[in-house]
Amino acid sequence: MQIVETITEMKRLRLQLPEPLGFVPTMGYLHEGHISLVRRAREENASVAASIFVNPTQFGPTEDFEDYPRDTKRDLAMLEEAGTDVVFTPSVAEMYPERFSSWVEVGKLTERLEGAARPIHFRGVTTICTKLFNIVEPTRAYFGQKDAQQALVLKKMVADLNMNLEIVVCPIIREPDGLSMSSRHVYLNQEQRWAAVSLYQAIKLAEELWAQGERDAERLRQVVIEHIQQQPLAEIEYVSIADTEILEELETITSSALLSLVVRFGKTRLLDNTILK
Ligand code: PAF
Repeated sequence: MQIVETITEMKRLRLQLPEPLGFVPTMGYLHEGHISLVRRAREENASVAASIFVNPTQFGPTEDFEDYPRDTKRDLAMLEEAGTDVVFTPSVAEMYPERFSSWVEVGKLTERLEGAARPIHFRGVTTICTKLFNIVEPTRAYFGQKDAQQALVLKKMVADLNMNLEIVVCPIIREPDGLSMSSRHVYLNQEQRWAAVSLYQAIKLAEELWAQGERDAERLRQVVIEHIQQQPLAEIEYVSIADTEILEELETITSSALLSLVVRFGKTRLLDNTILK
């Protein structure tokens, strides 16, 4: 596995990578969720690249950029084990040199849910992904369904701007008790970690009601909220049942819906979702 830190070197190496190239962009501190993306990329492509870059522009001024967990040595070992050919690990100065001033923004879709809670977040994500796509030139890029809105926003960006790659969205990977995997779990204390399983339990309750024929979105939201509220450590930020493409909140579900939620445990925001279909 080759590790490259500069854009020039990455572009040079790209010329030697066999087609098609699968790419897994990450912010590091990897877990099984990331590795499932690498494995999928390995299955579907002749070569696999990954990036590790904690992107400052997608964190708000009061968010956890400085504290975001980092362990590059461990990440590199995991990526090598999963069959990655190249890892791009640029510095902040390499990606955002002085006087950097160009941004990529997707409208509308980014105003809801995570976009409403974290106003500059998606502009940072779409800008860094555009830069990474231009540098790495992948055939396919792999993202997790865990960040459902991010996946939709990136698909929209690629379609709207006629970018020459496919966005592949892979299933959520969960801990044995059902909690969706996240690098931010290291912030949770033991009590919060136990309480966090209520997110998955609430999603399961909604899925069961859905399977029994419930189509009233407000009733489903209430079931999720009431279950999570039984945990005194949990602070619900939002529970949404929305259209799966434009993310408009629904009253009645006619075909399918994205049930997504964000719950805070102390300072840690946990996301989870499922598609009701
Ligand atoms: O999902 C993430 O880890 C990040 O948002 C991404 C896509 C690597 C961009 O920094």
